[in-house]
Amino acid sequence: MTLQLWTNCRAATMASGAAQPYGLIDDAALVTDGETLAWVGVRGEVPESLARRCTVHHDAGGALITPGLIDCHTHLVYGGDRAAEFELRLNGATYEELARAGGGIASTVRATRAASTDELLTVSARRLQRLMNEGVTTVEIKSGYGLALAHERKCLQVARSLGQNRAVEVRTTFLGAHALPPEFAGRADDYVDTVLDMLALLHAEGLVDAVDGFCEHIAFSTTQIRRVFDAARQAGLPVKLHAEQLSDSGGAQMAASYGALSCDHLEWLSEEGARAMARVGTVAVLLPGAFYFLRETKLPPFDWLRKHGVPMAIATDCNPGSSPGTSLLLMLNMACTLFRLTPEEALAGVTRHAATALGLPDRGTLAAGQRADFVLWDVQRPAELAYAMGSNPRIQTVFKGKAEGAST
Ligand code: NIG
Ligand code: FE
Repeated sequence: MTLQLWTNCRAATMASGAAQPYGLIDDAALVTDGETLAWVGVRGEVPESLARRCTVHHDAGGALITPGLIDCHTHLVYGGDRAAEFELRLNGATYEELARAGGGIASTVRATRAASTDELLTVSARRLQRLMNEGVTTVEIKSGYGLALAHERKCLQVARSLGQNRAVEVRTTFLGAHALPPEFAGRADDYVDTVLDMLALLHAEGLVDAVDGFCEHIAFSTTQIRRVFDAARQAGLPVKLHAEQLSDSGGAQMAASYGALSCDHLEWLSEEGARAMARVGTVAVLLPGAFYFLRETKLPPFDWLRKHGVPMAIATDCNPGSSPGTSLLLMLNMACTLFRLTPEEALAGVTRHAATALGLPDRGTLAAGQRADFVLWDVQRPAELAYAMGSNPRIQTVFKGKAEGAST
């Protein structure tokens, strides 16, 4: 394996428990060994035995280096858009009213079913590219706009192919329990039977890394989601949940009882829910884009999350209805301005804690043994990544040890 040395940089290692904020190392050096980081530390302290074996030396030009960003919650494979609903909402209709009237998720289901694999691939690749342009090296993509076997399969296959031949890893999540498709109107429990059948087949086809559900009065009850989670557990798949977005339905406690990787949204989370998540290490995935776009006013209970030590991740929630955006850097800004997270908490939310939310302990920090996924930024301080709205200071991404082209 080729060892490569990176110097002339500051590194925000984001290592847990580091003495400096952001785990910052001012005059840093990184050594990669193939796809892995072999050493990270102060430049003057690179072990001589390692330095001698480095065959390539990169001058980072004074860049700040962070771990590759991780977008741990997206729905980026979908057909159509919901700009018309955006207009209706601006004329007074609410998200829930539109959903109940057959719009909302159901309208994206119609467009997604009508789209061919190639069409979905084209539009989704564009969205993914925008995330990658901002330094994303791992992205989670959910199904959930097909809601029938052939279409859920199509979306997961598109997600899988997006992860091939690109400098990004895609993790797929089966979200069959996202909404009730029209052909099952009034028969939610029958649809859950179908979800279980789809899960078994799609998992057998190697298309599923995790299982999610939407637990809400406009979607599925905790009892219904339990059936899905029981099947996931039997299949050995981790679970996560869209929980307490519009109301407190006790979804977080229920998901925590399954050792869920994450509970996401959480505006209406109770303190008991936060305690239950803390007990099993479930990550709170906060989605400021959806909060902003739906003009929510109820903030997730950060004080309880901090008090009970629940790790907080940040993600785009990229989807056509509640968060039609592909900027994880903007989410950092919104996490700070709308949710009052510190820039350090926000950056940890798209690195270390986002990795935990995906069950991927091999990434999210810069440390020996971690995957060599990192980003060079044209900034002095890590806080600038959250501060500068709409700018993209990425210089270069390194994915699995391999340096990719400069920023577009
Ligand atoms: O995460 N909450 C459920 N699902 C998506 C929204 C989906 C949609 O409106 O199309 C979300 O916000
Ligand atoms: Fe979502």
